[in-house]
Amino acid sequence: MDFFTNILNAIGSGATAYILANRLRDPQTRPNTLAGFQLAESGAVPFLSNLAARASTEGDTWLAEKLTIHAADEKRHGQIFAHGLKQLGKQVMTFEERKQQSKKTEKPSPFFGKYYRDYDPASLKADKIDWQVFMASTYILELDASKDFARMARALPEHEPKSRNLQQSILSVAEDETRHAAYLYEAMQRRLSNTQVDALVAEWRKRKIDAMFAMVGNMFTAGDNSRSLVKDDAPTEIEQPAAASISIPLTSNN
Ligand SMILES: [Fe+2]
Ligand SMILES: [Fe+2]
Repeated sequence: MDFFTNILNAIGSGATAYILANRLRDPQTRPNTLAGFQLAESGAVPFLSNLAARASTEGDTWLAEKLTIHAADEKRHGQIFAHGLKQLGKQVMTFEERKQQSKKTEKPSPFFGKYYRDYDPASLKADKIDWQVFMASTYILELDASKDFARMARALPEHEPKSRNLQQSILSVAEDETRHAAYLYEAMQRRLSNTQVDALVAEWRKRKIDAMFAMVGNMFTAGDNSRSLVKDDAPTEIEQPAAASISIPLTSNN
């Protein structure tokens, strides 16, 4: 990263980390923030599982194994955020309920629009995505997510037990994201020269910075009209087996 890119990156990450940490600390915005994370983390699982299957078909068993672990981790992350929501008496709306809501308010994400500009969405699906594009773009996202999650966890109040539990869980999520970034970097190194890896990483770093500014700029111009993703938890509903069997790690030595 050159000096100027470095400065922009620091400003952009500082702004997004600040916004996210504030949203998580504020009891008003905490449920929606957790719901957003739950959806993002669980939403990645089918994509990663399909990529694992593709890597295996293509004969790259090393990558297939890493992707399988990655998918399982993201599934667990989704459960951690779901558990955090449940502790607040909330749960994520069903797909149908969200679809109803989004008819009114949803616009395409300015972040991902900018990050994956020049790529048509069909070319980013698991069966088509260029491996280098997947590895480099996901490497940058995972690396930054690990730092963002660690910062957000520290923003949670430590004196209430529920929020302390959530803090520990989010710190364990941050550690997993660091591990994901590390294997993705190694995956690039297995296929490319160091110079090629550097160039690829620099390109996606630049894209990430542009995407962060697009997102933050959009928040300032359009205001933060993010739609609600949560509803009250219904205690009379039958517990889903997945939710009942969540074990939230309280230690971070995984
Ligand atoms: Fe994750
Ligand atoms: Fe991850």
